[in-house]
Amino acid sequence: MIPESFIQDVLARVDIVDLIDKYVPLKKAGANYMACCPFHNEKTPSFTVSPSKQFYHCFGCGAHGTAIGFLMEYQGMGFVDAVKELAASMGMQVPEERSHRGGNAEHGSRLRRLSERMSEAQAFYKAALEKNERAASYLKNRGLSDEVAARFGMGYAPEGWQTLQAVFADYASPEMLATGLVIDSENGRRHDRFRDRIMFPIINARGEVIGFGGRILDQGEPKYLNSPETPLFEKGRELFGLPQARQALREENCAIVVEGYMDVVALAQHDVGNAVATLGTATTPTHVQKLLRQVDRVVFCFDGDAAGRKAASRALDNALEALADNKIIAFAFLPEPEDPDSFIRKAGKNAFTRLIAQAVPLSDFLLRELSARCDLTTSEGKARLVAEAKPLLLRIPVPLLRLQLVKRLAEASGFSQTEVERLCGIRGYAPPAPPKAARHAPSLTRALLRLVLQKPELAARIPLAQLPASPERQMLEAIARAVAYLPPAPSYAQLREQLRGDAQERALDALAGEWMDMKLEDAAVENEFQAAVSRLEAAAQDTEFEHLQTQAQQFGMMGLSEEEKERFRALAHRNSKKTSA
Ligand code: UTP
Ligand code: MN
Repeated sequence: MIPESFIQDVLARVDIVDLIDKYVPLKKAGANYMACCPFHNEKTPSFTVSPSKQFYHCFGCGAHGTAIGFLMEYQGMGFVDAVKELAASMGMQVPEERSHRGGNAEHGSRLRRLSERMSEAQAFYKAALEKNERAASYLKNRGLSDEVAARFGMGYAPEGWQTLQAVFADYASPEMLATGLVIDSENGRRHDRFRDRIMFPIINARGEVIGFGGRILDQGEPKYLNSPETPLFEKGRELFGLPQARQALREENCAIVVEGYMDVVALAQHDVGNAVATLGTATTPTHVQKLLRQVDRVVFCFDGDAAGRKAASRALDNALEALADNKIIAFAFLPEPEDPDSFIRKAGKNAFTRLIAQAVPLSDFLLRELSARCDLTTSEGKARLVAEAKPLLLRIPVPLLRLQLVKRLAEASGFSQTEVERLCGIRGYAPPAPPKAARHAPSLTRALLRLVLQKPELAARIPLAQLPASPERQMLEAIARAVAYLPPAPSYAQLREQLRGDAQERALDALAGEWMDMKLEDAAVENEFQAAVSRLEAAAQDTEFEHLQTQAQQFGMMGLSEEEKERFRALAHRNSKKTSA
């Protein structure tokens, strides 16, 4: 566990140009440096490194990131190792992992302390796996190499009721309970949650252990035990295997979602690295969104049994909201009674990847699911098909895909396309009205964003409440939140790492890439920023004035409170000065 502040120190000291130049010789081109991209094949350079933003971006393949991100992509390292490597290259000492063995009160946030405990537990479970013959041979028998087990940080929770007492001196403290690693029984006795189980750590995008799944070694109930939800761990947001899959996701531009921890690990063992699993819960829209930020194709690969089909149709349901044009969601079904683990062991990698390649697209699957519930030989059945499709169609946010489905429904039901649209109430679909406050030119928000990406600390000075609701405002809000945690005058790279795993990650990267070539002098940045904020405030005052004026016209000055009257006069005064000036 590396302290957040240390990561920021590393980013403040490293020079991304020096770093990348060691691996990929760079040439100066204006304010930036360029080379042929190491992440795709090209003859003319489109790989750009910005010394001011401490960020790289390829205009050809879209690869981008900070110094940490570069090492992760180029060397295939994990987040923690990349930070360590950078620190070592600059002769910086990585701070000692703090331990709870002394039971001393810790500094830092509550979350930080929680996640430190989780990683201490993981280290303990890992060491226990090496010492326990029975657990090690269980994994061997399931075909897992030491290398793959290590890659997923797997471990073993020993037998015994209070083995974690050896790790945590304050085993009895309330903080221990918050980790979910222990349980208080009804008679008031505290004991370990995980006993005699193979342990799968669940790791977030920052490389922090946030939870565990534990499998029983023999027969018994429950087969898997999972960490409860904690402040660190929200099941509907997290996916098992996501950090380990990073590189493969980029290479394949496709994510495979499976049901089990073992499936993910077994697929990795057979060189299928782009699989992730939900955590004993149904797939949520957040899961799908998270994956679609990283890849263009998501394939759900569920077991061939009835439970697998049910899981698939729930996944379908929850994927609808996350749908986007140009993105593909598909479903692959395994022959009963196989799951991905048993299938790839029997049939091999090629058979598995063929199955993934031939997955059924979402629209086909949806139609198949609906048709199965209706007797399409009768006209009642056909009407029912459309009626059942209606609520689903209405939840699809992208018109292209909706249209596609309407066409397919029309074919299957024998209604015309117009009739299907009318029956589903999506005829004359009107785009949502623009938000009320959208009076300022959208370019104003974008101008602010451009300045903030060059000088992140500015985000703290933007009157966010006066911005019109827009994706750009959401990004500015996320930046302002992140900046509050950063040291003064952070670089773009420092901001970017603080936002690792954030919902705004993708959108920010796109803009940082687009504006790679732009650099203003510091004085110009400050001037432009002041001007933009003034325009923003002026626009907000105009809106307020117009609002008060309308009210006064409709109801007379009596319609205004004392306070509003005063505001109205002050604003009117400002306007008269403005016009006379
Ligand atoms: P499965 O029962 O399909 O297990 O559960 P599996 O992945 O094939 O595991 P092996 O091969 O028997 O070892 C799939 C997933 O459902 C959740 C777990 O996340 C598991 O990986 N699950 C299952 C539980 O949370 N609790 C259980 O008791 C069983
Ligand atoms: Mn299995």
